[in-house]
This record gives sequence, C-alpha cells and structure tokens, in this order.
Amino acid sequence: MDQKEIIKIKKYIKCFHIKKNEDLETFKIKFLGKKKGIITVLFKNLKKISIHERKNYGKIINELKKEVQNKISHYKSINDINKNKKVLNSDYDPTFPGKSIEIGSIHPLSIIINRIIEIFIRIGFIHVDGPEIEDDWHNFTALNIPVSHPSRDMQDTFFLCKSLDVLLRTHTSSIQIRYMKNHCPPFRILSIGKVYRNETISSHSNFMFHQAEGFSIDRKISFSDLKQTIHYLITSLFGKEKIRFRPSYFPFTEPSAEVDIHCNNEWLEIMGCGMIDPEVLKNVGIDPEIYSGFAFGVGIERLALIIYQMKDIRTYFDNDIRFLKQFKSEF
Ligand code: DAH
Repeated sequence: MDQKEIIKIKKYIKCFHIKKNEDLETFKIKFLGKKKGIITVLFKNLKKISIHERKNYGKIINELKKEVQNKISHYKSINDINKNKKVLNSDYDPTFPGKSIEIGSIHPLSIIINRIIEIFIRIGFIHVDGPEIEDDWHNFTALNIPVSHPSRDMQDTFFLCKSLDVLLRTHTSSIQIRYMKNHCPPFRILSIGKVYRNETISSHSNFMFHQAEGFSIDRKISFSDLKQTIHYLITSLFGKEKIRFRPSYFPFTEPSAEVDIHCNNEWLEIMGCGMIDPEVLKNVGIDPEIYSGFAFGVGIERLALIIYQMKDIRTYFDNDIRFLKQFKSEF
C-alpha cells in the first residue's frame, strides 16, 4: 500500500456523509464489515507483507481504524445532543416543578405514646424499654400468675417453642420484673410497647396492641400516691375528666383496682392498677418490709379510641394514609 492509497482511504473516511443512523450502518460495514470491510481486508493482508514492513504497515492500518472509530463516536455524540435538543424543543419544561413526594405523618398511636412519655418524665419517671420475646418467669411466674391462670392458656398466649418457656409477652408488666431485679429502689419507671395475646372479645385488634406500664417503688409509697398519679395522667391527657377506681383483682397487685373514665354518658374501663404484691417484691429481691410500690398498665389503643372518638381500633392498622394523616401532634 503506497502513500497515495492511504490518502485515498483517509479521504474516503473523511468525506463519507453520515446524516442518519442508516448511513452510520453503511459506514461501519464499508470499513469494518467482517468480510469485505476496507480496514478488515487491510488487516487480512497483513500476513502477506514481509516481516520487515509489517510493523510500519500495521501502524498505518491501526491509524486508519482509529479514524473510522472516531468518526463513529463523533456521530453518536452529535446524535445524543440532537436528541436532547429535541426534548428541549418539545413541550417538556425542565423548569417545571417535579412531582412532590408525600411526606408521612406521625401515627396517632405514636402521638399518644410520645405524649404519655412526656407527661411522666415531668414527674420524675424514667422511660425504659424491654424485650417483646419473654420467658415464663418474667411474664408469669415472678408476677405471681399461677399455672392455672387463663392467660397461660395456649389459646391466649403465643408460645414460641414447645417447652412453653419462650413466648411473646402478653403484657408490659414483665418490665416490672426485668427492672426491679436489676435496680435498687427508689425508682419511677415507665415502659411502653407492643404486647401480644388473643383479644377477640375486646375492642383491641385481635392479637397485638400497645401498653404503657408504670411503677414506682420507694419507702412509704401508698395507694394515695397511685391515685394521684393516675389523676395527673388522666387530666393531662383529657383535660378535666371524671374517673373512678373500682376494686379488682390482678395476681401481681394487692389491693388491685380498675380505672374507669366517664365519657359520653358512660363509664369506660381504661386501665388496671394496684399496690405491688409483697410476693412480687420478694421475687426480685426487694424487701417488702422496707419498700412498697404501685403499678399500673394502660392500653394505648383504648386511650386513642377515647381521645379521637373512634369506634374501631383496626383502623389504626389499616395503613390508609388518608386516615392517618388527619392526626396532628397538637400536644
Ligand atoms: N398487666 C395487666 C394486663 O395486661 C394490666 C395491669 C394491671 C398492669 C394492673 C399493672 C397493674 O401494672 O398493676 O391486663
């Protein structure tokens, strides 16, 4: 291949008009086509050239190939720019504001939970957390709940293994045991979280709901401290509301009571409470001769029904954003 031929090919490459995609295809086949492409053939001829000249010859063909490739990429980049221009010339307006992403809102139950924490922190309570997977001792035995108690029934409790020692906590009262066995009084504790049990008869959702558990241990804690604390909670949550204490029974408190709130001309039961049973204190190594304490447990969904005047607790878990975003944390 002499100089003339090289110039001819170079010119051919340069002057080939690529206006549209089909031209590009023709150009590619013309120069790089597998069988008859000009560059391909030149490469094939390389074998015939004496070793002597091969190096130089190879260099020239590589340069030609580079020129072909440059022309191809040049066309492609121009084509991309044109495409973008087309977009810009169309109705598309890049300055038009994008679609906004909907921001969620605080769940109504979380609003109430945060509010309760705030209320109790003001009177010296500490907020603690605990496991949802419990063992028999923390959930039942240490709380004086006898083997025959209905809550230990397979139908009521979600046991997680055959030994019946691993279960989903049925109430937050297990936190009393967890905290008291590891700490020395005095203390005031609040814990809020999910509990799991069969609740088809009540207005709770049927297997899980949220509870707040509070307890206070000190020397000379009496039932009047409990009453005053509950009054403080209810008035902080509802404003001035009428409540009453009704005698009741819980295995871990003595005496025990249930609290009802007067609302829409009826009494609604909202929580259980009482003085912590001396046996429970003994179980966690606290001397009942020196210390006494009160405890209470309240269902958050139940409170939410009253606060928001709702009828069906399941709406809280339907996850319908139209429902959920009506609630504002006005506390
Ligand atoms: N653990 C009880 C329940 O889930 C509620 C309860 C009642 C908690 C009395 C207490 C209490 O701390 O003193 O039904």
